[in-house]
Amino acid sequence: MDADGAGLPHSGGVQYSLMASPVVTRPTGFAQRMARISVSATAAMMIEAEKLRSEGADLIDFGAGEPDFATPEHIKKAAVAALEQNFTRYTPTGGIAALKDAIRQTHAQDFKSTYTRDEVLVTVGGKHALFNAISALIDHGDEVILPAPYWVSFKDMITYAGATPVVVSTDESKGFTLTTEMVSRHLTARTRMILLNSPSNPSGAVFSAQLFRDLLDICRQRGIWLLSDECYSKFIYEGVPYSVASEPESKDWVIIAGSLSKTYAMTGWRLGYALAPKAVVKQMLNLQSHSTSNPTSIVQKAAIAALTGPQEPVGEMLAEYTRRRKVIVEGLRAIPGVSCTMPAGAFYAYPNVSGLLGGKGPKTPMELSEQLLHKAGLVTVPGEAFGTEQHLRFSYATSMKNIENGLRRLAEFAQTLRA
Ligand SMILES: Cc1ncc(COP(=O)(O)O)c(C=O)c1O
Repeated sequence: MDADGAGLPHSGGVQYSLMASPVVTRPTGFAQRMARISVSATAAMMIEAEKLRSEGADLIDFGAGEPDFATPEHIKKAAVAALEQNFTRYTPTGGIAALKDAIRQTHAQDFKSTYTRDEVLVTVGGKHALFNAISALIDHGDEVILPAPYWVSFKDMITYAGATPVVVSTDESKGFTLTTEMVSRHLTARTRMILLNSPSNPSGAVFSAQLFRDLLDICRQRGIWLLSDECYSKFIYEGVPYSVASEPESKDWVIIAGSLSKTYAMTGWRLGYALAPKAVVKQMLNLQSHSTSNPTSIVQKAAIAALTGPQEPVGEMLAEYTRRRKVIVEGLRAIPGVSCTMPAGAFYAYPNVSGLLGGKGPKTPMELSEQLLHKAGLVTVPGEAFGTEQHLRFSYATSMKNIENGLRRLAEFAQTLRA
């Protein structure tokens, strides 16, 4: 039998007999749908790094896709107060009304959107909102347009739903941006959705309002969905935050997935949301009612405090990310063989490391990332995880000291490759 059962879906069981025991049959094989998803390279790298760390390795971590800041005090206090008030029972599956209102009102203030309470679903993190939306709307045989580099989970969510991700490469020379023509070339009769993530993890690209408008027009003409992941929407370094939901008459085509994870340094709390047409929310809610049920009760109270309380901590985090972005991008650009576009949003640098590949050294970003981990004590995520072949992702949601030391280690390692 395969150790992991791969390739043996529903292959029956293994029969063996124990002395003086009746025959027992151990179940084997996994559901076929499991073969459609893979362990994310991010997760694999984290597991390997954790192992080395537990053995005492001195690692500098550029892998983590989460803020290194503590959750602001007033948010924590709201959760404690909810606990003390015994707000610990089931809530409505799709979230309490006060939180739905806080979500839609905040979105309306920020982006002039016009969602009503029954067009909001509160979920267990932004990932859950995306998963529910894709599960509710995408079928076997459908195609979903996915710009690359893409966040790791998008691809697997699409394939898990039985659909095909149609990967559209962005233009690195223009900051990993996209044009309507680039998307149009990939439209077919099977296209059911365009999935955009702006600001992007991993490239930091921010797509223009005009691109969103043009793609929205395509969606209107062809009757397809525009799923917009706004999880980094508060972390934009230049220009104004934008949501496609601010476009008049856009609601029938648009699903917004949002999250409090990054904005309020709440990754472990697991709170996200979807804004979508009422009928879509109803389907997503139905699915959620059979899986997680409601997001954690006290986290919902904390989320109200996050959204309606002081927003200064968000500005402070953005100011710190802005400082780090400059240091890391300039540091990366100073290393021969490395080029790096300036991220316009989020907190990742996505340098092109093709100049470090080949010869006697690492052949691929995956190999380079492994060598950096084992030989330089640097945790990075290889570009293969995000659908590109020449990059590494560096999260700068880590201290300035780590960034400076990490860049030094990287420069020294790059030097050994040239020697
Ligand atoms: C692009 C993107 N979307 C969604 C998420 C999900 O965030 P969460 O489930 O923590 O809200 C992440 C997390 O890394 C992300 O990078």
